[in-house]
Amino acid sequence: MIHVNPDLTEFSYIVAVGLFILALKWLSSPATARRGVLAGEIGAALAVLTTFFNPTLVQYRWILVALIVGAIIGIPLGMVHMTAVPQRTALSHAFGALAAATIGIAEYYVRFPNLTRFGMTEISLEVIIGALSFTGSLIAAGKLQEFLPQRPITYKGQNIVSFCTLGAAIVIALIMIVEPGRFPALFPAMVIVSLLFGVMLVTPIGGADMPTVIALLNSYVGLSAALLGFVLDSKVLVVAGALDGSSGFILAVIMCKAMNRSFTNVLFGAFGQLQVSAAAAQEDRTVRSASPEEAAGILAASNSVIVIPGYGMAVAQAQHKVRELFDTLGKKGVDVRFAIHPVAGRMPGHMNVLLAEADIPYDKLIDMESANSDLPHTDVALIIGANDVTNPAAKTDQGSPIYGMPIIEADKARTVMVIKRSLSPGFAGIDNGLYYMDKTLMLFGDARAFVGDIVRELGGEGH
Ligand code: TAP
Repeated sequence: MIHVNPDLTEFSYIVAVGLFILALKWLSSPATARRGVLAGEIGAALAVLTTFFNPTLVQYRWILVALIVGAIIGIPLGMVHMTAVPQRTALSHAFGALAAATIGIAEYYVRFPNLTRFGMTEISLEVIIGALSFTGSLIAAGKLQEFLPQRPITYKGQNIVSFCTLGAAIVIALIMIVEPGRFPALFPAMVIVSLLFGVMLVTPIGGADMPTVIALLNSYVGLSAALLGFVLDSKVLVVAGALDGSSGFILAVIMCKAMNRSFTNVLFGAFGQLQVSAAAAQEDRTVRSASPEEAAGILAASNSVIVIPGYGMAVAQAQHKVRELFDTLGKKGVDVRFAIHPVAGRMPGHMNVLLAEADIPYDKLIDMESANSDLPHTDVALIIGANDVTNPAAKTDQGSPIYGMPIIEADKARTVMVIKRSLSPGFAGIDNGLYYMDKTLMLFGDARAFVGDIVRELGGEGH
């Protein structure tokens, strides 16, 4: 056994916690995000290593086995394609929750029957949240990977059944808290009911709402880890869990605000069912379309262009062509910037990551507020595969499902150009009045191919 001075152990944990806090701070800007990831990695490695040399450890065999199994699963998981990151994140949460729940379960059996009421409260809460987050995250990953149906699975009286299930887990926990040294058979019952509740929690939610649900599950896992920190008397786990839980919660709030949805709406609203027939709304309305050559002419003659990327840019993987367009227009003296809506795409930071992958300079990315104050003085708003995040109905149509959602006001620019394949709706399933405005030109086609054609017309490399 290796013995390390307890003061050094405490010091290392404090440094690890400091690194976690810095990681969160740096992760909040694309310019410093890589540094943030590195700080988080070093912090986690330091915390694991310090625990490895903790004098209270009696043997290393199982820890080594766990490290090897974790590495075998974790390394390929870390290499998935960008578009699979949401489900990969859900799986990471499932593993985190499983770890927290199983350690809590082990603690119960190690301590039984010498459990205090306080200890039993900590363990029950931690195991309930860990177990429901485990199955909830697995269902979320399954929906996103399309192993499970993406649509919300609902039935009459569902919320009552779900709440009763959660209520049963809480009642069992309360009985064990009152008599901590008795009723050991109730403990596995509490675990099973909690696992079941996790499934019930996520199945009624539509696949496209999963990113918000994943952020919420992230906060549950953090909470469970923090509680486990209390159970194990580990300060580093308490702080890391609290940071994880609160950042996940803040992210879920930001996403709900940007989509103008309330938590209850996401959890019980089944947004996927709001899909209305946009085709009916399109009847009798005409749009103006343009060719790559015409689009190139307008762009080359403009002074300022704000590009508004959306989910379609991700689907088409058009970011590198967009970079070529940025370079080509830049050489012609056109000022090109990128307006990023907080929920453009399908996961937080989706557009930032794609544009960073294509090496678009960070200072050319502007947030929604700055874009909206500049758009009235901008020659061209070039929308690439975005739809809902530019839909004026969010401001004007009280009956619209997206009414109240903040949007990028592309309609204020002098000319609007929209690259998408058809007049089909986006995520919210509604028609977009922007397409029928006199100042709007529809550029029908796949985003990567169309942007490539414009670049070629402009005299850049193109295809
Ligand atoms: P959407 O409103 O979903 O619209 C994307 C558009 O891209 C579609 O209308 C589609 O039109 C077009 N498209 C698809 N493939 C394309 C391709 N290969 N080339 C060109 N265009 C293509 O996207 P958005 O404006 O980014 O808005 C995001 C939506 O997702 C919001 O409603 C938001 O609330 C929701 N949401 C976001 C998140 C996060 S965290 N970002 C999470 C959950 C939900 P065509 O089929 O006609 O091409």
